[in-house]
Amino acid sequence: MDLDESKFGTLDVALTEYAEELRGSGDQTATVTLGYTHSLHKSWRTVLRMLPVAPGASVLDAGSGFGIVAFELAANLPVQVDGIDVEASFVGHARELSQRLSDRGLFSQGSAVRFSEGDVRALGCPDEAYDLVLMREVLQFVPGPVQAVQEIYRALKPGGYFCVSDTDDQLRLTWPSGTAVLDGLVAAVASVQRQRGGDRQTGRKLTTYLRAAGFELAGVVVLPEAQHRVVDADDPERSLIIEQIRAARSRVVGSGAMGPERFDADLKALEEAAPHEEFRMNAKIVALGRRPSSPTGRP
Ligand SMILES: C[S@@+](CC[C@H](N)C(=O)[O-])C[C@H]1O[C@@H](n2cnc3c(N)ncnc32)[C@H](O)[C@@H]1O
Repeated sequence: MDLDESKFGTLDVALTEYAEELRGSGDQTATVTLGYTHSLHKSWRTVLRMLPVAPGASVLDAGSGFGIVAFELAANLPVQVDGIDVEASFVGHARELSQRLSDRGLFSQGSAVRFSEGDVRALGCPDEAYDLVLMREVLQFVPGPVQAVQEIYRALKPGGYFCVSDTDDQLRLTWPSGTAVLDGLVAAVASVQRQRGGDRQTGRKLTTYLRAAGFELAGVVVLPEAQHRVVDADDPERSLIIEQIRAARSRVVGSGAMGPERFDADLKALEEAAPHEEFRMNAKIVALGRRPSSPTGRP
């Protein structure tokens, strides 16, 4: 699909303003989720340009969070987008943002965007309802990822596409490598996700999940990221990492992954760490599956 770059500003400004409001409200989880997904989205526009989506398509944004993917699609094509998310509060934020963006004239004429609460493993929609399903950085949180991918298959029309993208921790390399303090905090946060049935190495497994559910593999893109930065108090990425760790405090301490004194002391040490330079490489995996046009494709 073509993206109208003149609309990027409207979306980016509205998301940045909303993140500031959330920060002011003290909702740390919402603030970091919006901060993270917005920064991810800027590199993900490359993927949107490659998507097979036509005017009039019905689209599902599965695990829609703040609705960023849904907004960008509806801004560029007259499409019907349903966003579903398991977190009721995120559904509320997505609806509020949708209203603000509509007031600012972001959406194409003929587009409709709706958000509701739901679980990607049991969508509650009729069979063969959608032309395209998108699922970005969701599967890593879902216990039973194969069940979720099978449910997407059911919800897609024959010939429809499923674009799924996720992270893989082991694709990340930094120099200098992380300090013991940072590595310990990141490992504690990751262990909580694992205890809840999540998997931070989902990226490499996406193609296997697609094939197991009966999809034809239409393409795989590795979205690379390579950068040099100065990690100091002005570095927005450093601030986001610290905010993400702080927001996970009650989950980390509650799960026993780290005691409260150690967590607080390590977070303080991270905040006070001396500025340093960093080289980093990372990648996100994006897989595109197609539901075969004839039912014989299903295993
Ligand atoms: C990192 S956010 C990504 C949000 C959005 N896909 C994006 O890229 O902007 C992960 C989202 O997955 C949602 N999620 C996790 N498990 C889910 C499930 N079983 N069903 C629906 N949504 C889920 C979370 O509530 C959260 O909004």
